[in-house]
Amino acid sequence: MSLPLSDPHENRAVPQAAVVDARNLVKRFQGMTAVSGMSLKLGAGEMVGLIGPNGAGKTTLFNLIAGSLKPTSGEIWIGGRDVSQDSPERRIESGIGRTFQIPRPFLEMSVLDNVLAGAQGQDGERLFANFLRPGHVRQQEKAAKEKARALMDFVTLSGLESQPAKVLSGGQRKLLELARILMADPQAILLDEPAAGVNPALLETIMERVIMLNGQGTSILLIEHNMDMVSRLCSRVVAMALGKPLAEGTPAAVSANPAVIEAYLGGAA
Ligand SMILES: Nc1ncnc2c1ncn2[C@@H]1O[C@H](COP(=O)(O)OP(=O)(O)OP(=O)(O)O)[C@@H](O)[C@H]1O
Ligand SMILES: [Mg+2]
Repeated sequence: MSLPLSDPHENRAVPQAAVVDARNLVKRFQGMTAVSGMSLKLGAGEMVGLIGPNGAGKTTLFNLIAGSLKPTSGEIWIGGRDVSQDSPERRIESGIGRTFQIPRPFLEMSVLDNVLAGAQGQDGERLFANFLRPGHVRQQEKAAKEKARALMDFVTLSGLESQPAKVLSGGQRKLLELARILMADPQAILLDEPAAGVNPALLETIMERVIMLNGQGTSILLIEHNMDMVSRLCSRVVAMALGKPLAEGTPAAVSANPAVIEAYLGGAA
């Protein structure tokens, strides 16, 4: 009989259906190639870590998946559909939510309104719906507010709903972003360094919330330099360097991989 080993993720199966399927992506900026042949799959309900030294191309890969950048070549499939030409808004509708490495709340707007900004396809934004069905629009707005309040509660920001977002700490802004993207009920969320610059107490809250979301079936792709967090959360890790995949496996296996260690040492030098 085998006893539990030091690596608790070792025997977990990789799910079959890919929620996000990035295929051979290349992104060139004027003189430089930030992503140069990167493929990555995120399965239904999976939580995958994406690591790599500074400048490896991780955030650029997120921008390609979320649609804020168009690839030079390669394809992005979401839920079995090619979304490579879709706008960021269409990709949110397809089930992708992403947070930014440096959160970008509307600083003068209230915390509640920032969360509400994540709501998709409100009829109140359509002139005719407002005119023809004002009751329906009011009902929708009420439901959106209730949902935003529930999400603020989920991310422990409910006491701050009428404060302007500028009063929030860096960690609270990350939680605000999380609540904002959850308004659209994403199937998969891309988190870009949720632990960076966050105090330990708030970091614990962020990790717990991420674990809860994943427990409810949300697929998560997590860029993070904090390997303790990656090891705790992710069953599978993909390491990239110079825009390409470098290694893939359990957190323990990838962090012990000589090519990964070499890439980080090279980055530090
Ligand atoms: N809009 C842009 N124009 C030109 N070069 C860019 C642009 N965005 C990113 N780059 C370059 O692409 C490379 C990859 O950057 P990226 O931000 O994707 O790295 P990263 O892996 O997220 O790094 P970090 O861990 O520091 O956040 C870097 O050399 C960066 O300077
Ligand atoms: Mg980055």
